[in-house]
Amino acid sequence: MIPFSPPRIDQEIIDEVVDTLKSGWITTGPKTKKFELELSGYCGNAATLCLNSATAGLELILRWFGVKDGDEVIVPAYTYSATANVVLHCGAKPVFVDVLDDFTMDPAKVTLAINSNTKVIMPVDIGGWPCDYDSLFRIVKAADFRSLFRPSSKEQTRLGRILVLSDAAHSLGAHYHNRKAGTLADISVFSFHAVKNLTTAEGGAVALNLPLPFDNPEVYKFLCILSLHGQNKDALSKMQAGNWKYDILMPGYKMNMTDLLASIGRVELRRYESEILPKRMKICKYYQEYFSRYPWAILPLQEDGAKGIRSSYHLFPLRIRGISESRRDRIMERVFRAGVSVNVHFIPLTAMTCYRELGYRAEDYPKTLELYRNEISLPVYFDLSEENMKMVADTVASAVLDEIKNPEI
Ligand SMILES: Cc1ncc(COP(=O)(O)O)c(C=O)c1O
Repeated sequence: MIPFSPPRIDQEIIDEVVDTLKSGWITTGPKTKKFELELSGYCGNAATLCLNSATAGLELILRWFGVKDGDEVIVPAYTYSATANVVLHCGAKPVFVDVLDDFTMDPAKVTLAINSNTKVIMPVDIGGWPCDYDSLFRIVKAADFRSLFRPSSKEQTRLGRILVLSDAAHSLGAHYHNRKAGTLADISVFSFHAVKNLTTAEGGAVALNLPLPFDNPEVYKFLCILSLHGQNKDALSKMQAGNWKYDILMPGYKMNMTDLLASIGRVELRRYESEILPKRMKICKYYQEYFSRYPWAILPLQEDGAKGIRSSYHLFPLRIRGISESRRDRIMERVFRAGVSVNVHFIPLTAMTCYRELGYRAEDYPKTLELYRNEISLPVYFDLSEENMKMVADTVASAVLDEIKNPEI
């Protein structure tokens, strides 16, 4: 079976993890701190905080910004549950908006969704393709939307407008106007979950890029405390001679990344530009070229040279023109039976029990439904061989052609 997205675990990763195991320090410590600096160096943002997941990072930032009961956060209907679940955790209301043909949040729909309760917009770079950040920032900075904004925390007053919090779970290494993800929004959150481009098994990072008068290193220091019980010293500094006494400044969370996980991430980041991204790009370009001969194939946008936009090639979301959901499911069945794992990114959140019970209706987001119904994500991962790329493409093409030949049931 060709898997969908196995991690790349080789000797270099194993050696680095063993080195950490033998170092006597396995929780948050020197390697996590180094990984944070390396991530900021790579993305070009001011400061980065590593955590145990992207979900934790998104929630931490909503809490830091003071999002609470009565507030609204605008999220795309086309995303993974984490994006909206964290809004509910804070007692706020997720306001879903529909997406564009490229799967990203539609700025025109965002404009219609803003009201005086709106505190945050959370665009999602689906599959690693950056959202239209120019339009989103034009909206949040527009005088009429600024005057609608009702700050209710020190951070909200300081920003004076809606926060753009990018769910960049998929987009580490993506470019927009030749700038890297991590610098495209006020704050961006990456995921290092096992299936992601760069993995630490589980993990995530918050990339701070707040405008003045925020002091990003100061915000970083505060978030270190907020993400670790509100404790004013981390475990490593408490171990220093004479430094054992600590205080709890607020009822913080427990979201820290461990050095064991950071070891994996540091090896991954070292070879991210030289090995991982080029391989993912190669696979996606192969699929682009292969499927471009078929009129039924709708290919994902992954590069726009004129605008300096480039995907991180996290997913290859192929769409089958005009196919219904049940026919898409049958195609997937055939592909699985032929030994290839495929996936769908994503089932709309508004179609999920939890969100339906809250009163959301999938039909209210027609573009999201249209994209979901005929989408199939193909395997993209470092160890996928050329022979297997061909097998994936041949298998998917023949499953689609078989389905098209048969009348709709
Ligand atoms: C779009 C999106 N946002 C957030 C997350 C959450 O990431 P994590 O598993 O690191 O919490 C995911 C995970 O798959 C995701 O796909």
